[in-house]
Amino acid sequence: MIINKNTDEVVISLRNLTKRFRNFTAVSNVSLDIKKGEIVGFLGPNGAGKTTTMKMIARLLIPEEGEIWIRGNGVLQLLTGRNQDYLLDEVGFLIENPAFYKHMTPRQILSYFAELKGYPKQKISSRVKEVVEMMGLSEWIDKKLGTFSKGMRQKIGIVSAIVHDPAIIVLDEPQTGLDPKARKEVRDFLKNLKSQGKTIFLSSHLLYEVGEIADRIGIIYHGRLIAFDTVENLEQLAQKSVLHLELYSLPDNIDQKIVQLANIVESLTGLDNVSHSVTYNYDLKVFEVLFNGNPKNQLEVFKALAKSEIDIIGCSVPRTNLLEDLYLNYISQDEEFRANQQNIPSNIVKMEDMTN
Ligand SMILES: Nc1ncnc2c1ncn2[C@@H]1O[C@H](COP(=O)(O)OP(=O)(O)OP(=O)(O)O)[C@@H](O)[C@H]1O
Ligand SMILES: [Mg+2]
Repeated sequence: MIINKNTDEVVISLRNLTKRFRNFTAVSNVSLDIKKGEIVGFLGPNGAGKTTTMKMIARLLIPEEGEIWIRGNGVLQLLTGRNQDYLLDEVGFLIENPAFYKHMTPRQILSYFAELKGYPKQKISSRVKEVVEMMGLSEWIDKKLGTFSKGMRQKIGIVSAIVHDPAIIVLDEPQTGLDPKARKEVRDFLKNLKSQGKTIFLSSHLLYEVGEIADRIGIIYHGRLIAFDTVENLEQLAQKSVLHLELYSLPDNIDQKIVQLANIVESLTGLDNVSHSVTYNYDLKVFEVLFNGNPKNQLEVFKALAKSEIDIIGCSVPRTNLLEDLYLNYISQDEEFRANQQNIPSNIVKMEDMTN
């Protein structure tokens, strides 16, 4: 058992994890550290490898390559078949839809889980009441689960993952199937757990749900971790907006016009290290000016363009969600990278429900 002083705060460490199903690589060389007390969001479209990764942490699946380290009794330890029962008692899992017995009540099922995970017997009754109340389901504690709505069952599923008061909580799409009000309740519930010092690793394909509460976000795509950073850093990277300029007539020489526009706006966009701040979008038939998203810079760019000789007849800033932009950006970059590697045309994935 190695104790590395530099990783004192790390409670889960995934190191070069790879999972294959026959010839198909579902998770490819994923490495990430989750620190004590943080919420890490694990984002990715359907089939990206989120559940597979979480199942490996739960040892429901065994990786072909790589290691999982979990902090137990204050020591970061390599998860193996021999220590899994003891180490995983420190972790609460909700992976895929929980199947509950319809004739049981939350009190019964949660008491059962708490006991199974070794929670002190004499405290189980009050703990069960406490967690059901945290989720706002006190009135339902003795009702049969068969009478519950899907969302209520999902909430009991989340509660069942934390009833034994684990230090680390791994939740696979806890908000799936919940309406906006219930999703907010779950977000508050998770924030509350964080304030108690718990560490949470939660997957979702709903950007908003994760962006609202996560300290750091990992983006997984085709089994590979393509980004892992704080929400602030990711947002800063995404802080690029685009200005659409419509000209009175299409110039004969588009490249020349690009240079002319670039000369006017380049020092005002607030962006360094951008090679092409002006491009032409042939689909929309507009010139696009990239800027840092700051209204001040937008104003400066507007003013400079208005003063110039250029015959602009329309100007707009299309609204986009920064994080969504970034997510799609990463995914399209990754697609391009893969296409270049495999020499096939790139095909950008469209995420229908990224922002709901
Ligand atoms: N037992 C299995 N046998 C074969 N392939 C599998 C198995 N489990 C998962 N896969 C494949 O691995 C890939 C990753 O699946 P996974 O369930 O981890 O994705 P996910 O990110 O959780 O997606 P979703 O958002 O749909 O839940 C998918 O292509 C899936 O078909
Ligand atoms: Mg999944």
